[in-house]
Amino acid sequence: MKRAKISIVGAGNVGATCAHWAAAAELGDIVLLDIPAAGDMPKGKALDLAEAAPIMKFDARVVGTTDYADTADSDVVVVTAGIPRKPGMSRDDLLATNAKIVGQVAENIAKTSPEAVVILVSNPLDAMAQRALEVTGFPKQRVIGQAGVLDTARFAAFIAAELDVSVEDVSAMLLGGHGDTMVPLASCTSVGGIPVTQLIPESRLAELIQRARTGGAEIVGLLKTGSAYYAPAAATVAMVEAVVRDKRRLFPCAAFCQEEYGVGGYFVGVPVILGDGGVKKIIELELTPSEREAFTRSVDAVKSLVAKMHELT
Ligand code: LAC
Repeated sequence: MKRAKISIVGAGNVGATCAHWAAAAELGDIVLLDIPAAGDMPKGKALDLAEAAPIMKFDARVVGTTDYADTADSDVVVVTAGIPRKPGMSRDDLLATNAKIVGQVAENIAKTSPEAVVILVSNPLDAMAQRALEVTGFPKQRVIGQAGVLDTARFAAFIAAELDVSVEDVSAMLLGGHGDTMVPLASCTSVGGIPVTQLIPESRLAELIQRARTGGAEIVGLLKTGSAYYAPAAATVAMVEAVVRDKRRLFPCAAFCQEEYGVGGYFVGVPVILGDGGVKKIIELELTPSEREAFTRSVDAVKSLVAKMHELT
């Protein structure tokens, strides 16, 4: 079988860590791209990773470049390009700068990899996914934002630590934008099949939900020089795997919702089935009145961000 070609745009911490895990899992051949101003840096990171292959025993070609021609005909393109936030900044503060960067990236992807599935990681995530969809003109199934896998992983990590159980047994779900208004769904979260609401008291669960919501800012506050990258990269690679191996994973992802959930043409986190060709299906959950209210608030936040982006671009 032919190996998949996976290009990663942005060779910073998130991009390089994606390359690392995707190569180690033998998901395909990897192209790590950055802007010309980065010089030989992407080549250096790619070569370093390729030289780890004999030790870690993975077969994957890894190349670094500043030329989109090297990414031609990728099966998947991961977009991590853009600036990360610093302490005190919200993801939304990155809007003007990253909308410009993601617009240029999307133009290049449309030219060089017209059949690719595009996974957005740059923030503010939901608006950047919208930008990529608008600029590439790709079908909506092939443009997806990475957020829910990361946000539920944070929630799951906190639940596992709280109960002192394996992270493997925690399954969590979440809706809404990748911002402080995201809606972790306790009703769809379980541990070994047992509803989490039977294992953790409501007030404590509310604290864990709040910590998951602000999980990105917690890391920014600790690192002080940038934002998280191990968990964001792991989440992205899980999505890449679902696509290149057609695993049909049921993940919360930022997907373009038109009539789904009555969203009306925006990217928001919803449960999707992810496989070959991108989003196979968006799953519509029945929400309780309070979940619906929180979801609407989150969608409104995405809408106003996109409106701001349209004024700027
Ligand atoms: C986070 C950033 C990457 O949540 O959005 O850590």
